[in-house]
Amino acid sequence: MSAPGAVFDGVAAGYDAAFTHTALGRVLRRRVWEVLARYLRPGQHWLELACGTGEDALWLAGQGVRVTATDGSPRMLEIAQAKARAAGLAERIAFARLDLTAGLAALEEGAFDGVLSDFGGINVLSDWRPLARDLARLVRPGGVVVLVPMGPRCPWEVVWYGMHGDGRTATRRWRGRAVARIGAGLVPVAYPSPRRLRRDFAPWFGHRETLSLGFWLPPTALAPWCERHRRWLRMLAWLDARTARLTCGWGDHYVQTLERLT
Ligand SMILES: C[S@@+](CC[C@H](N)C(=O)[O-])C[C@H]1O[C@@H](n2cnc3c(N)ncnc32)[C@H](O)[C@@H]1O
Repeated sequence: MSAPGAVFDGVAAGYDAAFTHTALGRVLRRRVWEVLARYLRPGQHWLELACGTGEDALWLAGQGVRVTATDGSPRMLEIAQAKARAAGLAERIAFARLDLTAGLAALEEGAFDGVLSDFGGINVLSDWRPLARDLARLVRPGGVVVLVPMGPRCPWEVVWYGMHGDGRTATRRWRGRAVARIGAGLVPVAYPSPRRLRRDFAPWFGHRETLSLGFWLPPTALAPWCERHRRWLRMLAWLDARTARLTCGWGDHYVQTLERLT
């Protein structure tokens, strides 16, 4: 098993083409931005964990927010930095390398107004209590943490891979843990339930809301399928957004918002 940063370095150059710029990637990210928009105020300072190629950091900076954007992969950070410079947003975003599995001790005591970890960043952890404790030190009272992990119950994945005779992939989330192939490397991942995250954050954070993301929409691995089936994508996107509160956090991802208790 290689170090997380090194593994994701191998897929960084193709990440935007494979996900960010796909029709599915855009639909999913817009849904996260709709949640973030409810909590954002210009002048705030947000922390991003596992920022990847910086798509969310750029969007946050574009809303007038200062961002500290971190990731474990140097190559992801280089790409994000180049995008920030090209967009003229570099002075609003500070980039730093941070391995989530090593904790957040490297970050200075601060008063972040919000924290974001989008699209699977925190799935590299298997216990979220230490992350919650670290964030309690870094987030101001009333500040929010918006987490977007891959959840343990994804009906699409079960049906799709089941239909294709790949029972192992179809049921991988049921075991709670798996090893993900990322390019040429392997990364251990865990799938926290919404309830598990709430419990791990409970001593310091109250639960605001949990929304399914990708209950009706296909999982991100099927982005190429969505490129070929745009009408289906539009229909499923409509349904997914309207039922997000009803589907109990089931789906490829979910968006959980927690608030720092005073
Ligand atoms: C699926 S990508 C999501 C990227 C980004 N948040 C987005 O919305 O596109 C997962 C990210 O987690 C980062 N990552 C993986 N393991 C990590 C770790 N242990 N510490 C910090 N970042 C990590 C990867 O480098 C990658 O950028």
